[in-house]
Amino acid sequence: MRVKFVDLGAQTREISERVGAELEQIHAQTAYIGGEHVEGFEREFADFLGVKRVVGVANGTDALRMALMAVGVEPGDEVVTVPMTFIATAAAIVQAGGRPMFVDIDPETGNMSIPALRKFLQIRSRNGRNMVRAIVPVHLYGLPAPMNEIKEIAEEFDLKIVEDACQAHGARIKTSSGWKQAGTIGDVGCFSFYPGKNLGAWGDGGAIATNNEEVAHRISSLGNHGRLSHYAHEVCGFNSRLDSIQAAVLRAKLERLKGWNDRRRAIAATYRQLLATVDVRPIAEPEGMESCYHLFVIRSSKRDLIRTALMKNEIECGIHYPVPLHLQPALSHLGYRSGDFPASESLADSVLSLPMHPHLTIAEAAKTVATVAEALREVSSTKTFAGELRVPATSRANSPL
Ligand SMILES: Cc1ncc(COP(=O)(O)O)c(C=O)c1O
Repeated sequence: MRVKFVDLGAQTREISERVGAELEQIHAQTAYIGGEHVEGFEREFADFLGVKRVVGVANGTDALRMALMAVGVEPGDEVVTVPMTFIATAAAIVQAGGRPMFVDIDPETGNMSIPALRKFLQIRSRNGRNMVRAIVPVHLYGLPAPMNEIKEIAEEFDLKIVEDACQAHGARIKTSSGWKQAGTIGDVGCFSFYPGKNLGAWGDGGAIATNNEEVAHRISSLGNHGRLSHYAHEVCGFNSRLDSIQAAVLRAKLERLKGWNDRRRAIAATYRQLLATVDVRPIAEPEGMESCYHLFVIRSSKRDLIRTALMKNEIECGIHYPVPLHLQPALSHLGYRSGDFPASESLADSVLSLPMHPHLTIAEAAKTVATVAEALREVSSTKTFAGELRVPATSRANSPL
């Protein structure tokens, strides 16, 4: 029996009756752009997050691009982020006219390293021509970045914060004023509703969250052709709106998000328990952080071997991400080289994402861990002498060993 990496069908079955009825209503009203469902979702997601405003947009990349523009990033400005993320984080900076400047990550969490960020900004502010305008922390795999420290640093260096919360719907961080949702601590938080996300649409979708009314207005206008009214345009904007069908799906799923995330956290706890005696290192969840476990990621120097064994046993898995962004051809103009960000490069070489979704059974998690353990047992028993490995024939095709 195949173990799925994500199970969108199971989610759809839970909501299809309700959404089916709402689709009929949307068709009856022919209200496809804007309207009751979009406004309803924006209100409900704002309540869920505990922010004043949510604005629905077409996808997470647009949310990031327009958020950067709305907080004042202008052509030529530098924006600090991490190399260990999806390409869209940096692409959005480029699309907003900015230049992505990378700082390395903490190898235990995969998130922005505070010492690396501080060091980078200190050097930058010493050399006179400081063009750094904003920081884009990424809550990688659903684990919040260290926002308390990032906020302090942003205040010290007078920088804006645009949170990439595209993988972090419902993740939480302990702050001096209590627990807060990822995506609500910086100036703007950006979310993706790509179908496989913890809160996913039936197509593309995204949103920004903010407590700043002016920023919300700018993003809402930018995403709707720069409109003030139907034929009055304050800027040349984009067409980047959340549509009402996606909003109806998201409203139904939002009601289940807390329960689904609780289930993900229970599965993660099971994985951690079962993996305690296996020679792999799961990404850490530090004190004061509550991951929403968009992904459950382990690290191992034998990653490719484990992956081959999982695939052979029909257990789906993934690598997020095999190439850090400073080594992507699309960003070669930034001039970075291999070796510039050792922690990111090492993580890219060792990470493996195990099946993780709210409908995963404990038996499926146990089968996954047993397969990982067995793969590692096999490789240690095929060791001929120190350091030399005889690779089983079946894994040769996918293994760099
Ligand atoms: C970290 C991160 N940033 C940005 C995005 C972009 O979101 P979208 O695919 O909705 O444009 C994603 C989506 O996969 C993501 O994982």
